[in-house]
Amino acid sequence: MSGPNTNFDPVQVAALEPEALEANVTAALEAIEAASSLEELKAVRTAHQGDKSPLALANREIGALPPSAKADAGKRVGAARSRVAAAAAARQGELEAERDARILIEEAVDVTLPAGRRPLGRRHPIELMSTRIADIFVGMGWEIAEGPEIEAEWFNFDALNFDADHPARQMQDTFYVATPDGGTDSGLVLRTHTSPVQARALLERGVPLYIACPGRVFRTDDLDATHMPAFHQVEGLAIDKGLTMAHLKGTLDRLASEIFGEGITTRLRPAYFPFTEPSAEMDLRCFVCRGTDADCRACKGMGWIEWGGCGMVNHNVLRATGIDPQVYSGFAFGMGIDRALMFRTGVADMRDMIEGDVRFNAQFGMEI
Ligand code: PHE
Repeated sequence: MSGPNTNFDPVQVAALEPEALEANVTAALEAIEAASSLEELKAVRTAHQGDKSPLALANREIGALPPSAKADAGKRVGAARSRVAAAAAARQGELEAERDARILIEEAVDVTLPAGRRPLGRRHPIELMSTRIADIFVGMGWEIAEGPEIEAEWFNFDALNFDADHPARQMQDTFYVATPDGGTDSGLVLRTHTSPVQARALLERGVPLYIACPGRVFRTDDLDATHMPAFHQVEGLAIDKGLTMAHLKGTLDRLASEIFGEGITTRLRPAYFPFTEPSAEMDLRCFVCRGTDADCRACKGMGWIEWGGCGMVNHNVLRATGIDPQVYSGFAFGMGIDRALMFRTGVADMRDMIEGDVRFNAQFGMEI
């Protein structure tokens, strides 16, 4: 850079010539106008307003002018720089406004668009009903017991006083588990009822005993509107001193009104089971016709729907598990859970319950 002009020689600096200044301003204004984005404008501003821009350099040259020339040159350079600065600021404003308008469009959120729906899962209604029933028993102070679905034939039949030639043992009712070489003498069955849990609980827990066991059971039934080869029961067993059939009836009536609501009508009908004596079936008043329609399809005109079996535990079962029937007595029952669900929800066809249609679960598989 040239030093101060000490001999006051009027030095003509090319960069300060009005034409040169005007040319720089024109170039700057054109570049500013041509900048089509904020990034481009930033580069233009560095080139035309920055420290190394021609106008900044011209400004620096003023110092080298004789004092008489400084004021005039200063005024012109100042005017030139402020024209450029004003144009740049104006263009900056325009480009920012454009960007803001574009962001408003590009980043707009259409709140009327449907949201990405992720439907909530539902528990299976049979599972829910089992839990609900278990809760009812826990509320009465009973314990929940479990047993295996693949059960020893001894627990499923022998311990429950089934004769060796009882019809339920025959192939047409029971799924027998094959041995690895395909034989039929594995000694294992898919449990045909939850009653084997009675014998297991008596052996494992002793008396007094109050247990409920909801679970899955298997029979070689064809699938139709009222039968399934795999279905659910809840077993109950109470053994204590002085238990009578009145306790059995009271417990089942309580269970029925907890599940179906107060006012449900039940009845006990004499029946036979090898492991209870006396035995009964419990029926519920038909939920469709309430016993008023001889052509009702739900109860086949009977007015009643069978819910499950029950009775006073046979002394032979107590003896088989080491309990003295002279001291202890008790009652047992096995109620259909799938039937309870049909009854409670009005589902007329059991197949709907197991076909896995999520719409079915959505309708019946949610409780608050
Ligand atoms: N286990 C019997 C059935 O599946 C029901 C039952 C249970 C009967 C307990 C009496 C006592 O049919």
